[in-house]
Amino acid sequence: MTFNPNNCRNESEVETKLIVSYLLPKLGYTPDTWHQEIAFGNIRLDFLSFATKVIPIVIDTDSPMSVVIEAKHPKEKLDRHIRRLKRYLTSLNIRYGLITNAKEIRIYERIASEIQLVFNCSGQELETRIDEIIALIGRDSLKIIKSPQNLELKYSQLNLVTPDLTNEIAIALNHPANVEPPPNPISQPENVPEIVPFAPEIVPEIKLDLVEPTTSQNTMKIIAVYHNKGGVGKTTTVVNLAAALSKQCKRVLVIDLDSQANTTFATGLVKFDDEEDDDLKQKNILHILQSEDFYSISEVARKSNFCTPAIDVIPSHIDLMQYETELNSLDYSRMILIQKLAEVQDKYDIVLIDTPPSLNFYARVALIAADYLIIPSDLKPFANQGLINVKDFIKKVNGFKKQIGKNPLQVLGVLPCKISTNAKFIQHSLPRRRDAIPKRYGMEIMESVIYERDDLAKCAEQTQIFGDMEIADPISVLDFKPDSVASQEFEVLAMEVLEKIGEK
Ligand SMILES: Nc1ncnc2c1ncn2[C@@H]1O[C@H](COP(=O)(O)OP(=O)(O)OP(=O)(O)O)[C@@H](O)[C@H]1O
Ligand SMILES: [Mg+2]
Repeated sequence: MTFNPNNCRNESEVETKLIVSYLLPKLGYTPDTWHQEIAFGNIRLDFLSFATKVIPIVIDTDSPMSVVIEAKHPKEKLDRHIRRLKRYLTSLNIRYGLITNAKEIRIYERIASEIQLVFNCSGQELETRIDEIIALIGRDSLKIIKSPQNLELKYSQLNLVTPDLTNEIAIALNHPANVEPPPNPISQPENVPEIVPFAPEIVPEIKLDLVEPTTSQNTMKIIAVYHNKGGVGKTTTVVNLAAALSKQCKRVLVIDLDSQANTTFATGLVKFDDEEDDDLKQKNILHILQSEDFYSISEVARKSNFCTPAIDVIPSHIDLMQYETELNSLDYSRMILIQKLAEVQDKYDIVLIDTPPSLNFYARVALIAADYLIIPSDLKPFANQGLINVKDFIKKVNGFKKQIGKNPLQVLGVLPCKISTNAKFIQHSLPRRRDAIPKRYGMEIMESVIYERDDLAKCAEQTQIFGDMEIADPISVLDFKPDSVASQEFEVLAMEVLEKIGEK
């Protein structure tokens, strides 16, 4: 069996060609000793392999018996994912974690609440160094290490995502106190760790984030992108994240709820040079919000080719400003968007809503309709102070949502945007600024970072010449420069979002 890293062109090929076909068999793990896509609370592991049989799943207090294996896209930098791997290992008390993008293979060992790099090599070197990996995390090597004390994971905190493992879930959930696990004809009794009954005081802490565990279902997810501070990168995030999600084969609808109509412009819908030719005035988000019976989403949506595959966009218009008071006075106006979005729930996978930099009616409509919230921020003092308003706004919106029987907003986190690429800043100031968000404002910070990149401004300023007219022709950064770092940052963001909303 050989392995060629060049055959892995995406994350799924890293999973199948490197991990399933090469690494797991080489390390001695048979299909009954590893699981793919396994969830503990809101933690989702790509792979979890065990030195012993896995029914029921046992996690040791200092578990030498299991290894987390995480696969990443070959273009992704592993450094970005180490914080998360640390969280997995420390929250689940697992000793080893292997992470790879096929170009590089790293193994980390958990020591108390820290993790330490214990092995790394390039994909090209893998075959020559496989013996070292086997010695470290091979099934036989792990079997030899005796765990001091076994501890069973609280079963109610465990759910397996893979559908064909449902029987195992049932078995795991029934065990242990009075239900005997069914006889397993191929079990190896000498290696089965002793299972102790569930002891609440020593259950490993499973950190529950703001995001509830979700299984991958084909239901439309609505994400608002909001901060009341202007110019922090909301629109840039909406349009390029939309493009990145579309490239992940998601059917995307973008809604522009800001009267500045920057998203409408950025997605290339403003093709007129003279207001007399304005073809958006008669059909835009305003019409959707004004009328209960007419102007459905499908009727108002425009196809935007600013990215490939194309996405749908509900345009905004400067007219929104003058109708705000009128709309605000209508009882039903806050509900209309929810109702109209429900009509297209089979048509789209993800809806992204861009919002105004304000605490106004349109921002409220966006947050009421949304399931999830991303808060872009440059992490500077004014944006940070604005977070207090954002929190208060979320609280009020959630109060209204409760009245109408809708779940509260799930905050995916504050997304660092327009972050300086100065090396000293990244090394010293950025970590401090990131840490301040949970510490001072009690909000989660997203793992992705969108740095300040010229390409992001350039792709939005593309034009085309028609006769003697210069017409705006913006495109997404992923279509403008697919290999740029800016594109990769949005690809990584898309992955984080998909993972957090349970779509990955
Ligand atoms: N990561 C980035 N790198 C470089 N320029 C950026 C980046 N993000 C945003 N910009 C630029 O900063 C300006 C403001 O960005 P954007 O319009 O996305 O912010 P916003 O939060 O939507 O603003 P508003 O609150 O006015 O709607 C734009 O000119 C945009 O091109
Ligand atoms: Mg904007």
